[in-house]
Amino acid sequence: MNKYYEFPTKIIREGLVRVIVPDLDAYRRPDGVYEPAWAPVFYNPRMSFNRDIAILFARVSRRILGVNKLSVAEPLAGTGVRGIRYAVEAGAEEVYMGDISRLAVEIARQNIQLNRVDDRVRVEKSHANKLLYKLVEEGVAPSIIDIDPFGSPIPFVDTTLEIASRFNSVVALTATDTAPLTGTHSSALRRRYWVLPGRTGWEREQAVRILLGSIIRRAASIDYGVKVFLAYYTDYYVRVYIGLIRGASRADESLNRLVYGVYCPSCSYSSYSSIVLSRCPICHHRLVVVGPLYSGEICAPEIVEEMIRDIEEVSWIDAKKAEKLLTVLKNECSLVNPYYRVDKISAFLWTLERLPVSNFLSDMLGVHARKIHQQTYRNLDELLALSLQQAKSPPVALTALTAMTPEKIGEYLKTNRQFNNTDSQKQAKMAVAVGLGGFVLWRLLKRAKS
Ligand SMILES: C[S@@+](CC[C@H](N)C(=O)[O-])C[C@H]1O[C@@H](n2cnc3c(N)ncnc32)[C@H](O)[C@@H]1O
Repeated sequence: MNKYYEFPTKIIREGLVRVIVPDLDAYRRPDGVYEPAWAPVFYNPRMSFNRDIAILFARVSRRILGVNKLSVAEPLAGTGVRGIRYAVEAGAEEVYMGDISRLAVEIARQNIQLNRVDDRVRVEKSHANKLLYKLVEEGVAPSIIDIDPFGSPIPFVDTTLEIASRFNSVVALTATDTAPLTGTHSSALRRRYWVLPGRTGWEREQAVRILLGSIIRRAASIDYGVKVFLAYYTDYYVRVYIGLIRGASRADESLNRLVYGVYCPSCSYSSYSSIVLSRCPICHHRLVVVGPLYSGEICAPEIVEEMIRDIEEVSWIDAKKAEKLLTVLKNECSLVNPYYRVDKISAFLWTLERLPVSNFLSDMLGVHARKIHQQTYRNLDELLALSLQQAKSPPVALTALTAMTPEKIGEYLKTNRQFNNTDSQKQAKMAVAVGLGGFVLWRLLKRAKS
């Protein structure tokens, strides 16, 4: 036990800073996994990549967004590692941190001293929203407001947007409540984000777009539009960086990008719609509808490109992971439609056509494994066209299609196969039952005769 604290601590290194954190070994679950929420002060080493990207963004914001004096407000600071990294690694001139926990503030204060940034970084015990208003009263104009809570950022969004609107601040938000956002906990999704809840086959994209949609609606209520600089889902959280644009017409433009996401659990048909559809236009199965959600671009290419360029200047971050994420985002900035999952499409084709698509699927998985696992934003048409070019034994049905749009595939399947697989499944079950019944009867009769 460290003599200064009421709980076990240790000093770790993250990025270019050293910080006192709870001793992770003291807060492990029976399966050995560290549970940050159990520690008296929150520190999650698995979030270091979230902080790496925050540093890259802050550095680039000076050049791209014309930020002269980098002033960061981080009102949910925990141990202070993020705020101190802003000062040390992004050269922030001012960092204002806060936390509602006395212990967190004590540790953060020690960490500020440990890293000798007390001339630029300060911390105080306060509710996050109160601290933000207090900073404004003191004449602070934050260039970045970083909201990094445990769970949903929603309780802090209105205050953050209001203050960001006064100072043209960038708003960075983390949401770790991915179970609601992906539709796994639908009632929490409706309560927190006020959307029609549902779970699509592109749940990571849904999570990012629901959070953005919710921010857009709140910004619109104070007559601001939203510009998305960067938004992504990685590990187990959503992170977004946005800016505000003044004006009722800008707010309306942003609102115009809100749609409903529709997803067919039977054939995977996915689309955006401005009205609430109930039946799949392809196979007529009942649709999952979720929204409103944001349907626009999820990054600004010039910012992402500049961040990729800056990676070699910050060799201490997880450069490989940062480059991988940012490159995928850069390539897919303009792909706004929901992605299709090749495994689901293949399974569907198999159930419809009894096609042994396993070769095709394994070829596709070979080609697209990375993309599939990262749940990217590629369109079905591109994905299938690519797969067909590269597959050794593509299924005949798919090769016959020249343009691989979901609608074309739907039309093809509708005209070539009947969507009565539930009927055919029923018939097959009936046949098996009759067959079995006949067999049992025959055995009984045989036994009775002998
Ligand atoms: C996820 S942790 C912060 C992690 C930190 N940003 C980092 O990068 O390591 C969330 C922190 O918010 C604090 N907190 C929770 N509710 C708060 C509130 N209403 N106002 C201020 N701090 C709050 C918690 O005490 C906790 O330390």
